[in-house]
Amino acid sequence: MIKKSEPAAPDIAKLTKPKAKIELMRLRLEIEGHNAAYYQHDAPRISDAEYDALRRRLEAIEAKFPDLVSASSPTQTVGAAPARGFAKVQHAVPMLSLGNAFTDEEVTEFALRVQRFLRLDEIPAIVAEPKIDGLSLSLRYEHGELVRAATRGDGFTGEDVTANVRTIADIPTTLKGKAIPAACELRGEVYMLKQDFLALNKRQEEAGDTVFANPRNSAAGSLRQKDVTITASRPLKFFAYAWGEMSDYPMQEPTQHKMLQWLAHAGFVVNPEITLCNSVEDALKFYRRIGELRAALPYDIDGVVYKVDRLDYQERLGFVSRSPRWAIAHKFAAEQATTVLEKIDIQVGRTGAMTPVARLQPVTVGGVVVQNATLHNEDYIKGLGNDGSPLRDGVDIREGDTVVVQRAGDVIPQIVSVVLDKRPADLPKYEFPHKCPVCGSHAVREEGEAVWRCTGALICPAQAVERLKHFVSRLAFDIDGLGEKQIELFHERGWVKEPADIFTLKARNAELQIEKLEGYGETSVRNLFAAIDVRRTIELHRLIFALGIRHVGEGNAKLLARHYGTIDAFLEAMRAAADAQTEEGNTSEAYQDLDNIAGIGDVVAEAVVEFFAETRNRAALEALLAELTEVLPAEKVKRDTAVAGKTVVFTGSLSKFTRDEAKAAAERLGAKVAGSVSKKTDYVVAGEDAGSKLTKAKDLGVAVLTEDEWLGLIGG
Ligand code: IVH
Repeated sequence: MIKKSEPAAPDIAKLTKPKAKIELMRLRLEIEGHNAAYYQHDAPRISDAEYDALRRRLEAIEAKFPDLVSASSPTQTVGAAPARGFAKVQHAVPMLSLGNAFTDEEVTEFALRVQRFLRLDEIPAIVAEPKIDGLSLSLRYEHGELVRAATRGDGFTGEDVTANVRTIADIPTTLKGKAIPAACELRGEVYMLKQDFLALNKRQEEAGDTVFANPRNSAAGSLRQKDVTITASRPLKFFAYAWGEMSDYPMQEPTQHKMLQWLAHAGFVVNPEITLCNSVEDALKFYRRIGELRAALPYDIDGVVYKVDRLDYQERLGFVSRSPRWAIAHKFAAEQATTVLEKIDIQVGRTGAMTPVARLQPVTVGGVVVQNATLHNEDYIKGLGNDGSPLRDGVDIREGDTVVVQRAGDVIPQIVSVVLDKRPADLPKYEFPHKCPVCGSHAVREEGEAVWRCTGALICPAQAVERLKHFVSRLAFDIDGLGEKQIELFHERGWVKEPADIFTLKARNAELQIEKLEGYGETSVRNLFAAIDVRRTIELHRLIFALGIRHVGEGNAKLLARHYGTIDAFLEAMRAAADAQTEEGNTSEAYQDLDNIAGIGDVVAEAVVEFFAETRNRAALEALLAELTEVLPAEKVKRDTAVAGKTVVFTGSLSKFTRDEAKAAAERLGAKVAGSVSKKTDYVVAGEDAGSKLTKAKDLGVAVLTEDEWLGLIGG
C-alpha cells in the first residue's frame, strides 16, 4: 500500500483557506474509503496508527478553520453505513465512538477538562478498562429477554445479527437476577481469542477458505455470516462494558463500576482487568501495567479506555459531536518496523496445502524480535487478496523487498506495506512454485481456491502421517491394533513411511523388534501381524478410499469401484487418463468416461487424475499392491432400475432389513444413500418413530415411503 497522504500532505501552519478546503476534501474522501474498508468489508487497508494520523490531521485543519467543518465531515459522523445483506436496526441510543489520547499529557488534559466542566475541586474517580480490539455490539433486552442484536454500523443504524448472536455462549438470552430494567440496550465487544484465531486461520488455510488478517477481522467476518451455522462454528466471545437505552437503572446512585458489577451478575462476562482509579497517576499506572501485560493477554487490545465513574457526571458532561466528553481512549503506539524480506519459504501442511512464509532480516517490533511473517497464499503475495490483505491494487511482495512489518494485534507478524521507493529496479516478481518443496511432486491449484496443494498424497513426507492415519482408518483398511497413535509412533521411528511399509513390518521385525516397544509384547505383535495379514484381501472401494485422493471420500470411492469393477480396470483407465493430462485439460476417452460417472463431477475427476499423474503415487500404489493378496472386485451397479440415480434417506427404526442392508441394496441398484434430508433428496424411507428427518421431508415436499412401499419400488 502506498501511503497516499504522506507525499502530498502540506504543512498545516502554512495552509491558506482555499488550500485547506481542498485538503479537507481529499482527507474526507480518503478516510471514508478506509471507513468502508474497515467497517463494511472487515478488510482495513492501513494500520490503525496510520488511520489515526489521517483523522488527527483532518481534526487539526478543522480546528484551524472551524467554518470549513461540513456536516459530512468524518468528525461529524461515525464509521460507515451498514453493509448490504442484513436487515437494518435503528439504535435507540446512538453508538458513538471515543476521542483518542496518545500521550500522558493528553490524558491529563482530558481529566482536567472534566474537572473544569463539572466545577469540581479535584479530578473525579475514573474507571480504566482495556480497549478490546473487536467489534462493538448492541443487545436489546425486553423484560430480561434478548430481542435484538445489532452491530454498530454508522452509529445510528446497524445490522441485525440477532440469529448469529444467539450462538455466542458469552451472551445470555435471558438476564439473571432482580432489578432488571423493562427495556435495556447492553453493549460490549465481540472478539476472538488469539489462539482461537490462529487455529481458525490454520483450518481455513488448509481448506482453502478465507484467511483473516487478525482476530478483529476474524471476529467481524465470523459474526456477519448469512449462514448462522458458520457463526456457531466460530469461537466468538463477548465482553460487556457499556449500555445504550436503560428504561431505569438497577441501583441507586449508579456508577460505571457498579453497572459493570451488575452486568456480571446479569450473566455477562466483564473484563477482569478493569480498575477503578482515584487519580490520573493511577490511571496512567494502569495503562503502563496493561501495556506490559498486552502480549500475554489472550485477546487483542489496542489501548485503554478511561471513563468518568459517576453516571450523573457522565450525564452532565454529555457529548461533543461523535464522542462523549466523559470518556477517552488512550491508544498504544503502533508496533511497526521496516526490514528486508530476504526469502519466501513454502511450508507444506499435513494435508498438502502449501503456505508461503516471509523470512525477514530480524527486526525488533514492539520489544519482540520478528523474523517471520505469514503470507497466506499466492493471491496475498500478488496483492490480489481480498480478505484483509493489506497489500492490494496489485502491489505485490518480492524477495528482496523492503517491507513494513507490524505485529498485527500482537499475534502473527504481518507485512503491512512494501516500500516501493526502495525496490531495486530489476527485482523479479516472485513466482509461486508449482512443485512441492518437500517431496517434489507437482502441485495444483483448484479453480476458485487460493491454495496450491501438493499432489504427492502417498509419498510426501509432510503429509505422510495424516495419510497413513487415513489409510488405516475405519472405512479404509481398518487394521485392528493399528490406530492413529501406533501410526505416529511407527512413522516417527522411520518404520512406516508409506502404505506398503505396513505390510512388510512382519518381514522386517527381526531388525525392528516391535515387541520391545513400551506397551507391546510377543502376543500383541503377533496379533498385529495377523490383523495386517487379514487385510491383504481388501474390497476395491476401501482401497480407493484409502489412497486419500482429494475429494474422494467413501461415497465417491464406491462410485468409482462400482463403475470400474476391478482394480485392473480401474488402474488401466486411470493411467490412460493421467497420461493424457495437459494444462489445457484432458480429452482422452478414459477421462471422459470417468467424468461421465453419475455423481462424479469435474472437480473430483480432476483430483483423481492429478493423483495418478504423479508417477510416484503410482509407484507407491504398485508397491502396496505387490503386498496384497487380492483386491475384491466390486459388484457392478445396475443402471436400469427404478431408483438408479436417485437420492434416498433411511430414517426411523426399520423392521424388514437392517440399515446396512438397506444401504447396500439401494447402492447396488444405483441409488445414492444420504444421511440427511435436503431439496436434493428423492425418497425418504421412514420406519417406526421417525423424527426430524421425516418432518423435514414433509416440509420440503420430498416423497415419503414406508418400508413396504420401498420394497415394492425396488422389486422386493
Ligand atoms: S466505551 C460512547 N469501552 O472502542 C463510548 N469502548 O472507539 C462507548 N471499545 O466502538 C464505547 N473496548 O468498539 C468502550 N472498554 C471499552 C471498549 C470500547 C473497546 C471499542 C468499541 C467502541 C470503540 C470506540
